[in-house]
Amino acid sequence: MKILYKVKDIKTAIAELKAQNKTIGFVPTMGALHKGHYALFQKAKQNVNVVVGSIFVNPTQFNNADDLRKYPRNIEQDIAFIQDVCDIVFCPTIDEIYPMPPTDIYDFGQIDKVMEGKYRQGHFNGVAQVLKRLFEITTPDKVFFGKKDYQQAVIVKKLINMYAFPIQLVLVDTVREDNGLAFSSRNMLLSEDKREKAAFIYKTMLEAKALKTELSPKEIEQWIVKQFLQQSFLQLEYASIVDAETLMPFTHFNETKKSVLCIAAYIDNVRLIDNLEL
Ligand code: PAF
Repeated sequence: MKILYKVKDIKTAIAELKAQNKTIGFVPTMGALHKGHYALFQKAKQNVNVVVGSIFVNPTQFNNADDLRKYPRNIEQDIAFIQDVCDIVFCPTIDEIYPMPPTDIYDFGQIDKVMEGKYRQGHFNGVAQVLKRLFEITTPDKVFFGKKDYQQAVIVKKLINMYAFPIQLVLVDTVREDNGLAFSSRNMLLSEDKREKAAFIYKTMLEAKALKTELSPKEIEQWIVKQFLQQSFLQLEYASIVDAETLMPFTHFNETKKSVLCIAAYIDNVRLIDNLEL
């Protein structure tokens, strides 16, 4: 696996590969890699000739300085972890990605105003800033994103369409620990006991899904709020059942449209998100 740090070096490497008609798959990450990321790289390996990953903690997508400071970083361990599933890893500095402070503002309509967009103001604008830059640098044929960040995946789809990037978006299922907790870099900030307790999120989502035949989306959301109030270790930020495409509130279940239940909750000041297609 090649490790590159400079924009000019990765551009040269990719230009050479393209001249040999190789297809490029790209897996952008912020490091702190876990089995969920590994599944993205594995999927890429099955789909393209050359897998490019990036490890870059993007400061512009953090609306909270403390969250950025606390974000787990361990680049040597990350590089070793993806050794057999990644061909080139790009580890740029902030100056390489943003030679000038980025000022681009994106209009995604309503999809970045709800849920994560509501509680993490500016977050998706920062995600779009870094992804647009990374897509332009790596010019991939396919990009690989996890369904765990469901709203992010919808925004990436829109970003690709808005700029007519010739890129296919491939979504990969959420990978879970044995107890059901979705793998997340933030899990590393939790003790084993708290990771066990955090499995309550997935368990509650599964129970909520089973209520689909009896209750409306609104009633299920209210039921979830009650479940969270009956325990003390997790603080629910939101539980929203939304249209899988538009992310707008889902008013009633029907055969033709898909809905997704999205949850954000805090445990020990660590913010976790998860979702389940209903
Ligand atoms: O999902 C993430 O890890 C980040 O939001 C991404 C896509 C790498 C952009 O910084």
